[in-house]
Amino acid sequence: MILVFGSINVDLVARVATIPGPGKTVLAPSYERHFGGKGANQAVAAARLAAPGRVAMAARVGDDGFGRESIDNLVANGVGTDLVGAGAAPTGCAFITVDAHAENAITVASGANLEPSADDVPEALLTAGTTLVLQMEVPFAQSLALARRVRQSGGRVIWNCAPVPDGFPAADAAALLAASDVLIVNEHEAADIAAILGKPGGEIAGLIAGTATRCIVTAGAEGAFAYTPEGETFHVPAPRIEPVDTTGAGDTFVGAIAAALDEGLDLQQALDLGCRAAALSCLAPGAQAGMPFRSALG
Ligand code: RIB
Repeated sequence: MILVFGSINVDLVARVATIPGPGKTVLAPSYERHFGGKGANQAVAAARLAAPGRVAMAARVGDDGFGRESIDNLVANGVGTDLVGAGAAPTGCAFITVDAHAENAITVASGANLEPSADDVPEALLTAGTTLVLQMEVPFAQSLALARRVRQSGGRVIWNCAPVPDGFPAADAAALLAASDVLIVNEHEAADIAAILGKPGGEIAGLIAGTATRCIVTAGAEGAFAYTPEGETFHVPAPRIEPVDTTGAGDTFVGAIAAALDEGLDLQQALDLGCRAAALSCLAPGAQAGMPFRSALG
């Protein structure tokens, strides 16, 4: 099974000509509401691409309308929600501005996403057939504890180190790397982690040398690159598209990688599925609306 331990948000999206800098106010004609959160997005993306019933999520939402609607949305997308509990704080909310080039800036009010615990996940769910998918929008210590339990059970850990927290300690970055079978980052996150770990020049090969971790770096319109500790490198180009909204493209990629590896595809095939799925996800507004079903990808 694919178990996503992570965040659930409701996204409030305003479309602007230019994303405002500090001290600036801009006007948008209206706003949209979408289901989001990196964890929920990755769970939905994986569920649309994996065999039915393969994906579940462990998370917390608030005891509120946003939380109930978010759970209903996961269920409607075939994601198991037995481990999605009600927290004390409100459901997480993301405030997103999208500019005329479909680029975005996001502020997340974490709310109940600060409350998930590794103990929420029963030992019986963690087997050699488990693929755990993690991001960085719930408490790091809980993600790390769960990653270590999954590794102990012989399962696989895919960790999308997004966003890289300000002041992320080197010891935590090293622990994350050591607990991951596959690290997925974009180019900025890769450079940040390399700098935190004191690796000059953001060199990915140097980052994973001496570990058992494979690293995938997403590069937007350039596609994605994969690096193995044995020194292999793959590149898969992205299909050319005219994006409407790139929010959630990275999450679609991560969900697709999880679905592909869970199905037994190799790294290159997984990259190919991830790039094609992520491109299609940019053709509709919001994080989840454009995420493709398997039938659309062959
Ligand atoms: O990766 C996109 C997601 O980041 C959005 O859905 C938003 O909720 C934030 O978590």
